[in-house]
Amino acid sequence: MHNQIPEDFIEEVLARTDLVGLIHSRVPLKRSGKNYSACCPFHKEKTPSFSVSPDKQFYHCFGCGASGNAITFLRDYERMHFVDAVTSLAQSASLEVPRSQSQNGPQKPSTRPLFDILEKAQAYYCEQLKNTAISQRPIQYLKKRQITGSIAKEFAIGYAPQGWDNLKNALIHNSKESQNALDAGLVIQKDEKRIYDRFRDRIMFPIRDQRGRTIAFGGRVLGDDKPKYLNSPESPLFHKSNELYGLYEALQSRQSPKKFIIVEGYIDVIALAQHDLRFAVATLGTATSTTHLERLFRYAPELVFCFDGDDAGRKAAARGLETAIPCLKDGRQIRFLFLPEGEDPDTLIRQEGKELFNARIEKALPITDFLFEHLSQGLDTSTLDGKARLATLALPMLAQQPKGMLKELMLSQLAEHTKIELKTLAEQLLKAEQKKKASTPSPAPPQQDTDNPNPDSQTPDNTHSKYQRRSAKAPQNYRPNEQENGPAQRTAYKTIRLLLQLPEKAQSIQIPEELRELNLTHTNLLINVLECLQNTPNISTAALLGYWHDTPEGSKLASLAAQEFLLCNDSAGLEVNEMIRQLRKLHIAQSVTRQIASDRENNSKDGTKLKALLELKKQLNKEGDEDDKTDDTQAARE
Ligand code: UTP
Ligand code: MN
Repeated sequence: MHNQIPEDFIEEVLARTDLVGLIHSRVPLKRSGKNYSACCPFHKEKTPSFSVSPDKQFYHCFGCGASGNAITFLRDYERMHFVDAVTSLAQSASLEVPRSQSQNGPQKPSTRPLFDILEKAQAYYCEQLKNTAISQRPIQYLKKRQITGSIAKEFAIGYAPQGWDNLKNALIHNSKESQNALDAGLVIQKDEKRIYDRFRDRIMFPIRDQRGRTIAFGGRVLGDDKPKYLNSPESPLFHKSNELYGLYEALQSRQSPKKFIIVEGYIDVIALAQHDLRFAVATLGTATSTTHLERLFRYAPELVFCFDGDDAGRKAAARGLETAIPCLKDGRQIRFLFLPEGEDPDTLIRQEGKELFNARIEKALPITDFLFEHLSQGLDTSTLDGKARLATLALPMLAQQPKGMLKELMLSQLAEHTKIELKTLAEQLLKAEQKKKASTPSPAPPQQDTDNPNPDSQTPDNTHSKYQRRSAKAPQNYRPNEQENGPAQRTAYKTIRLLLQLPEKAQSIQIPEELRELNLTHTNLLINVLECLQNTPNISTAALLGYWHDTPEGSKLASLAAQEFLLCNDSAGLEVNEMIRQLRKLHIAQSVTRQIASDRENNSKDGTKLKALLELKKQLNKEGDEDDKTDDTQAARE
């Protein structure tokens, strides 16, 4: 979408915007040293961990990891669409937003046509409910489900008519549209020539992204056919396991939600909204993921998981528990609500009404209680043995929890439950944490969440918990895709961070071939940043981030920029050139290792290539004024 606004215009808008003023008029800021601070508007907190840098025109919250520039601030604080945010800032700066369809330069394949066709499809499906020739059955069905016209409108519920090519005939007139419809999952390709409608004779629920754009559909049969619900397939716009049905609608409602309740089904969300409980969201037939939870925690400090009271519900709750614990930072609350067997929120709220259902939510079990209840199942916790067993089960789970008061609280509750001394438990917990660390050398990369720069970002922890890991190492947030390149990655990110701090350094850098040859995600990002800074010498950090807006690289950069707040000047002494030299050394070291292996494999006695490489390495070592032996050996080990 923002492809339509030229990057250099965005840059200009950001350059003319005073981020401090912009934020201050919404969230009163206090000066603190070079920066400004406040209690974070994106999560609930008592002491300020939200920091705004006037130099960098960049904000960052050390509590929840939210960070960005004036555009992301408006987007997230005012819930504006990207284009609206840019437009609003442009207006304040008396600039007119230019729109250009075709920008020069290579660009990602635009997602715009997919959004467009999905929007048209949604309008089409809604239209069908007004078409009296066919709308009787679907309308009757909606009535039977007690879904009112106004809530149907709010959720843009529609109907896909019977037949194989209704949508196709209405929306597709050429091969381009046909491809878009295929990519968006609206139609299915039968053979070379023929495509047909994916959704036929189904009630259609548009799934919208956080900004209200339709990205997929769920379609329910009117009767008992199988499958009951058909969802759009994965597409460039739709990643099922990241999306939450109803989130957009919940955010649209006038009172911003203080909590969310996570239910199972489309109609559960709708039924609750209809009863004015406008904080329900549903996963789309998948288990709740940390991405889901982190996304919700950006808007509210409390989540309530809602499950059926049956066995399947209990099992799902146990899985939910495991997902939830790593998200349990201070200031966040998670509770579990179990419904009577055979009921779901839809049936229950229609039976007992808003007040009683709300009362159930209020009484939902805090996660701590559910944790101990769950773990105690089948144990006799009145015996010593049962108590020890409970501790053994609980500690690995607590080891997953981020440090903080909440964690200490959980531990003291465990002490209470087990009558084991707190000190002993704390020691055991430390061991469990170390074990967890050792057994997970590289945690799975966080799922990409386009709206949340870095949900998992490791934020500095100022609480000196007694359970603190001994070696809290520097940045670990970017889980390497190429694990074996730890040092290269670290150095590349360090260099980027340095460049974000001292962009003028980029001017004197000649990007060495070896760096390109490394061809790793992070070294390529470094090259791109260098090139960008060289092409646009006076670009601000905020504008630089604009180039990578809404991409995984953008999240990385945002978080690296955020780390500047932490580092202040302590790495300023390190030269960018020196960093790049280290990267070149890594490249050579890798080549040496590879050459040795290849010579060995081929039984080659010809050492000329190896010799040349070693010579190069020596030269490179000489280039640096002070040669860091440790780095060298580290590189050689690679
Ligand atoms: P349920 O089977 O519990 O149905 O599916 P429900 O939500 O109560 O549906 P109604 O009330 O009969 O209309 C829960 C959720 O699981 C996903 C859907 O997201 C659904 O809302 N699901 C279910 C599917 O994706 N496919 C299916 O075939 C069934
Ligand atoms: Mn139901």
